[in-house]
Amino acid sequence: MSEIISYYEDPKEIEKKIWELLSTAVKDRSSEFRTPVFICGDDKDLDGRVVVLRKADQQNNFFQYHSDIRSSKIEKIKQNPICAILFYGKEEKIQLRVKAECNVHFDDEITKESWEKTGHISRKCYLVTNGPGTESDKPTSGLDNKFDNFDFTKEESEAGYKNFCVIRCKVKSIEWLYLAAKGHRRAFIDLNGSKKFTWLIP
Ligand SMILES: Cc1cc2nc3c(=O)[nH]c(=O)nc-3n(C[C@H](O)[C@H](O)[C@H](O)COP(=O)(O)O)c2cc1C
Repeated sequence: MSEIISYYEDPKEIEKKIWELLSTAVKDRSSEFRTPVFICGDDKDLDGRVVVLRKADQQNNFFQYHSDIRSSKIEKIKQNPICAILFYGKEEKIQLRVKAECNVHFDDEITKESWEKTGHISRKCYLVTNGPGTESDKPTSGLDNKFDNFDFTKEESEAGYKNFCVIRCKVKSIEWLYLAAKGHRRAFIDLNGSKKFTWLIP
């Protein structure tokens, strides 16, 4: 007998499943939904990169990740805040194509809260001397030796806060694709204005 999947054809269950996947991804390092591809740019130049999901809030329809304020994607997001975030879970057989309006938070209540939760070792990413993408005449991590060797105190890690930012992605639409042997299912959830759910041919 085939397994009963609550979210196979039930819009409410699909939405519930989506937010369950996103909130589990924030807590569970092994979740396939933890590292989506974040795509931003404009009509002449688009680029994607892997990021780590750090917060998901169904009630307010947003999720967020952390970055270095000096990354070139920050300017791109400011120029065009409409971005795409792509998730795929091989085990779950679910693809999520999210469109979101993104906001860059820097040195505010949101960044303070996230920075406090960022462990002293994870803060290493924000301690690179020059920003991500800066050219170098030799192969390098961009870190001073003491940071490379994890030889720094929590107090010293505070220096990374000046480079730390939070990208909050306010979800505008989600396209759901569930791969099933008995028939794939695809749907579009439009969150612009009043919520609208539409089935699509996969
Ligand atoms: C597993 C993994 C997780 C990553 N997480 C982040 C992240 O949360 N935030 C981020 O800005 N970059 C993250 N990166 C690095 C980006 O993919 C990218 O290389 C970096 O942000 C520089 O490119 P950009 O400035 O064009 O975004 C991650 C990369 C990998 C492979």
